[in-house]
Amino acid sequence: MDRFQNTRLPDLDWWARLWPTPGETLRRLGVGPGDAFVEVGSGDGYFALPAARVVDPAPVYALDVDERLLTDLERWVERQGIENVVTVHGDARELAGTLPERVDVVFIANTLHGVEDPAAFVKQAYEALRPGGRFVVINWHDRPPAETTVEGKPRGPPADLRLSPNATVDIVRAVVPFRQVRQVDLPPHHYGLVFERE
Ligand SMILES: C[S@@+](CC[C@H](N)C(=O)[O-])C[C@H]1O[C@@H](n2cnc3c(N)ncnc32)[C@H](O)[C@@H]1O
Repeated sequence: MDRFQNTRLPDLDWWARLWPTPGETLRRLGVGPGDAFVEVGSGDGYFALPAARVVDPAPVYALDVDERLLTDLERWVERQGIENVVTVHGDARELAGTLPERVDVVFIANTLHGVEDPAAFVKQAYEALRPGGRFVVINWHDRPPAETTVEGKPRGPPADLRLSPNATVDIVRAVVPFRQVRQVDLPPHHYGLVFERE
């Protein structure tokens, strides 16, 4: 299992400034109570932990290739007394075969830019979903890092890896019958896209 390019976990000090209310972000993207949810590339749980409260009592599968980050996540889960998070040490490239069940939401944030074969990953996301399930993507806007600063420093992946909303829609809809439901602006530097499995 190897990590996608430019997908190192951001430092919490500036990440928390950029995303002050991750649970609210998930709700804006249509995630709600009862949605069985997987975050692909969950890291130590910046989105997966609030997701657990948003979808409660449904499960949150937090999948990452980096086992140490999942160990950190498990510590947070224990400290916060959360009961519906399941960590999954695995590779996004084998998502559908790795999960114990099909889910209502496949969520990937700040990671798709690094996926070397996005079409193959989109197929995995499709297969991991129940009919009517949603594929939810958060991406950095396709702007140069000098224009996506946080606390005065350029942040985010290199410009040549970034995907515009249109490019992402084209990738997602090229391979499997996903219907685009909506695009959500996530200022200052991100956008979200929601697709539905037919
Ligand atoms: C930039 S971080 C984003 C973390 C979290 N999604 C967020 O937005 O706060 C990308 C995460 O994807 C994970 N990752 C990278 N390649 C992966 C792969 N092939 N399969 C599963 N996870 C992967 C990394 O270990 C890292 O935790």
